[in-house]
Formats: sequence, C-alpha cells, structure tokens
Amino acid sequence: MFRSHTCGELQISHLNQTVTLAGWVQRVRNLGGMTFVDLRDRYGLTQLAFNEVWDPELMDEARKLGREFVLSAQGEVIERSSKNAAMATGDIEIKVSNFKILNSAKTPPFTIEDDTDGGEELRMKYRYLDIRRAPVRNNLLLRNKVNLAVRNYLNDEGFVDIETPFLIKSTPEGARDFVVPSRMNEGEFYALPQSPQTFKQLLMVGGMDKYFQIVKCFRDEDLRADRQPEFTQIDCEMAFVERDDVLRTFEGLTRHLIKEIKGIDTGDFPRMTYDEAIKKYGSDKPDIRFGMEFVELSELTASSGFPVFDSAELVVSICAPGIANYSRKQLDALVNFVKTPQVGATGLIWCKHQEDGSFKSSVDKFFSQEALQNWANAAQSKTGDLILIMAGQAAKTRAALSALRLHLAENLNLRKSSEFAPLWVIDFPLLEWDEDSNRWHAMHHPFTAPYPKDLTLIDTDPGAIRANAYDLVLNGNEIGGGSIRIHDKALQEKIFGYLGFSDEEARKQFGFLMDAFEYGAPPHGGMAFGFDRLVALLGGKETIRDFIAFPKNNAGRDVMIDAPATLADEQLKELNLSVNLD
Ligand code: AMO
Repeated sequence: MFRSHTCGELQISHLNQTVTLAGWVQRVRNLGGMTFVDLRDRYGLTQLAFNEVWDPELMDEARKLGREFVLSAQGEVIERSSKNAAMATGDIEIKVSNFKILNSAKTPPFTIEDDTDGGEELRMKYRYLDIRRAPVRNNLLLRNKVNLAVRNYLNDEGFVDIETPFLIKSTPEGARDFVVPSRMNEGEFYALPQSPQTFKQLLMVGGMDKYFQIVKCFRDEDLRADRQPEFTQIDCEMAFVERDDVLRTFEGLTRHLIKEIKGIDTGDFPRMTYDEAIKKYGSDKPDIRFGMEFVELSELTASSGFPVFDSAELVVSICAPGIANYSRKQLDALVNFVKTPQVGATGLIWCKHQEDGSFKSSVDKFFSQEALQNWANAAQSKTGDLILIMAGQAAKTRAALSALRLHLAENLNLRKSSEFAPLWVIDFPLLEWDEDSNRWHAMHHPFTAPYPKDLTLIDTDPGAIRANAYDLVLNGNEIGGGSIRIHDKALQEKIFGYLGFSDEEARKQFGFLMDAFEYGAPPHGGMAFGFDRLVALLGGKETIRDFIAFPKNNAGRDVMIDAPATLADEQLKELNLSVNLD
C-alpha cells in the first residue's frame, strides 16, 4: 500500500493512528537532533518528523533526501509542539517509523513553492513541475469545478452535450485557420474549427433543441494574455428562442457559477447597447466595477481658440477621484502612458480640482478659471479630483481614453478581483469596416441576424445596421458572445452578398448550411463562453495561461514538447507537401 491517507487531511482527530502517506519531498529541514520533511501531494502538505532519539539511522536516511524525491512513509500521527495555523495539517506531524524512496529526482530547475523563482518560459518548459505548485494546481482544480458546475446546470436545463468534428472546413470567425493536410485527398486540407458554429446550427435544424459542448477551438491569431491559439468554449445553441430567452438562460448559468464558486449573488445583469458602451466607456467590454464614465466636453470647448480642441472631432474627459495631488512626475507618467504605441494618443490634458475649489490645468494659458469650472461641473468633479481630457478623432480618442481609464483604475486599485460586475452589451453593429481588405466584415459572424428594419440602411449607411448580437462582459473582459441566427436561406444569401461573397463562393463555402435552411430550419440562437477566461476571472486573474494545463507561449509554441516542429521528408512526401527551405 502506497498510502492510507493524503497529505492534506490529517488532523488532531487522527492522533495516535498509524498512517502511510505518499508524495514528493518539498523541503528537508535539519535542526540539530531533529529533521523535518515536508511531504506534498495534490491535497496538501504534511510534516514528517525524525528524531535522533527515536531512530538515529532513520534520521540520517531522511537527511539524505533531495527535493522532489518520491516517498511512501509510515508512522504515527502525533501532536506538534509548535503548531502552524496557516497549514491545514499544521496541528500534527508524523513520527516516521519507516519510509521507502519510490523514485529519486534531479534538483528541479526552479523552486516548487507558492512563490517560485522560476521565470515564465522555464515554468512552461517544465510544466509538470509547475503543476505541482499549489497556485497552478488550484487553478486546474478550479477549472474542473467550474466545468462540472456548467455541465450540471446545463444538463438540468435540458441541454444535450454533443460532439462536433475537429477536422472540418474553415468557419469564418475572423481569425486565420489552422489547417491539416489530407493524405488521402491530395492537395486538400481540413481546417480545425475556430468554433463549432455551423455544426451547432445544423443540430438545431436536426431538432436537438438545446445543445452544449465544452469544446476546444483553434484560431491562428496574435496572442495576448487572454488569448491562446487553442482555447475552450462553452458552446451553446437553442431552437425556438428570441434574444431574451438566450440572455435569460445564460445569465442564469453565469449567476449560478459566480454564486457557486465565489458565494456572490450578482443580481440581474445590466444591459447596455454597444453605442452606449462606446460613448460612456470607449469600449465594447466596459469594466463597470468603478465609475470614471466619459463626459464629453466638445460643446463646452467649441471655438475656444485652443487648437487641439478646435481641430478635434471629439473632446472627452474622465474624472479620476482623489488624485488632484498628483505630482508633476506622476502627471507626466500619465501623459507618457497615453503616448505609448499601444495607446497611441498624441497628448493628454489634465485639470486639478484643488482643495480650495480653484483649478490648475496643463492648459491654464488658454482657459480661464470660469471655463475650467464649467468643465468641472460637466465632469461632476469634486475638490481633490483630477480631470483628464483627450481630444481628436472620435473612435481613436475614445479607445485611448478607455485605456487610460483602465490604467488609472489599476493604479488606484479599483479593479478588485474579488468584485464581480457582469453586464450584457447588446445591439452590436452587424458590419465592421476592415481597412486592410477595404470591405465590410461581419462583426460577430456571417450567420448573425440583423434587425430586419435596419436592413433598409444597407445602401446608405451599412455601418448603422444593428445585429441581434450580444456579448457577456465580466470585469472588463469579454467572456462570451452570441446572436440570434439567420434561419432563412434568402436572407443568408443576401448577407453573404453584402459581405462580398459572390454567389458561387457562398455556395462553395456554405452551400451545406443554406441547403439545410431549405428543410425546415427553426428560429434559433445561442452563444459561446470563453471557458478559459471565465475560469481565470473566477480565479481572480485576467491571464488565462495558468488556468490551462499545457498552454502555448506568446509565440504560439509549446516549449515543453517543442512544437510546432518540422516534419521528416518522408512524412511531407506522404502528405504531398514540400517545404522550400530557402
Ligand atoms: P466568439 O468568437 O465571440 O464567438 O468566441 C466566444 C468567446 O470565446 C472566447 N475567445 C477566446 N478565448 C481564448 N483565446 C482565444 N483566442 C479566444 N477567442 C475567443 C471569448 C469569446 O467571447 N461561434 C461564436 C459564438 C456564437 O455566436 O454562439 C463564437 O465563437 O471569451
């Protein structure tokens, strides 16, 4: 028997019992006539005690143990003389009578403790060691817990888990596809799904009514903290539903998860139109845990003689609470922040609402105290607040101010990971202009239904057509998105046309879907959650990497198995591929 108990469960109630534990040596501490070994497994740590009075030979053996050796140790549970309240098993220790080394270990390349000295790449290269650390392990345990809670909830709601294929033809979700060459079909390729979108719609045509799947999706896109090339969705679809049915169902799921995992009842989720989100927060995924809403000053600053304002399409401000006392250096740091390439603004104007009620600004030369008072009234600042103003082209200015708003909130500790502020963003535009390809793209995907009455704008103002699409936003992160779908062949054909597909291209790519629509497709809609993002937020983080057992690095590489890798010539030949190495 390797073990009778785990390393996380022994308490005072187990006193005097003879137990056997198995695990890894976290640390060996030699204190004169005593030696302590911390033994670790998935469940926790238990202190093994050795004493030269009890058994000098055994203690000598224990002193030779190295970090990460694998042991099975037997002994008696005894009460500790100095208890450790911070440890679940801190009241007891094991008076070891014998132990067996099950495997030795090389010295690990980084310390396997909560705070490790290992850098990101090193931890990824030895991910199996990183997983032994409590923070990573707990993230994976959390992921499992959320997964189960999702399954139970959706099962109770009548959703059926159905697998869809991974070797498919590309689904246009906006990113590039990962492709797989077909050996048996020379010159032809499968694509890995960016999402099971078309399949879940076909399941609705197939009458499955409520579908879900916790499923891998693959997207060849630039990576960020909240993006991996392969990630997991909770993918869902429902038939005979309108938008509010979908929102109600998945608001229920999200509320349930936050309650179950965090013990917090978020209440009903607010809904905000896309236009409102952009106007108030400069973002379609606003973090509403804190205020600092945008206040537009365009009218107040019109024809002021200040060139930056006079030439601007938009002048917009936020009011940062309680930081009117920022030093010159701190203000310069904010100005420099907005000028970084990722924010891309040309400048920032500040105005201090000072304790004595007067104002001091970076544009004092141009504006009277009265003018500044008017800004303050509009921005609803109080004494001690700092008003920050940006001006320029509307969309760019809003995006830059949004970045500043988040940056300030981070600095002021207003983005608290223990708070949960979800909301729905609804009424997205159907189409988005793409500068690179110089044409309209579907903002969500081409299967999203427009609001029928908006379609009259197609020739005059296509960008103003609204889609029956929605995103679920949590703490400033897009954790899900979906839409009511088109279920009518004629409308789907029309939308493909607007998106620049010729009839022939549309037929070639999506003929199967449009054919299906001719055989009695029910009205349907759904959404998909970014499972990794959801779990990370529930774990109090915004970076998803440590909530995935074996993630890729920012260059899309798995540094542990060293993938992607080249193929042998023979394999390439078999796949009818050739690689030009020049
Ligand atoms: P969408 O493309 O919005 O919708 O994706 C749904 C959710 O998946 C998450 N997500 C990602 N997470 C990690 N890494 C990535 N690279 C990544 N890309 C997306 C986000 C996002 O909200 N088929 C539609 C859903 C539908 O209409 O039902 C879809 O895939 O949290």
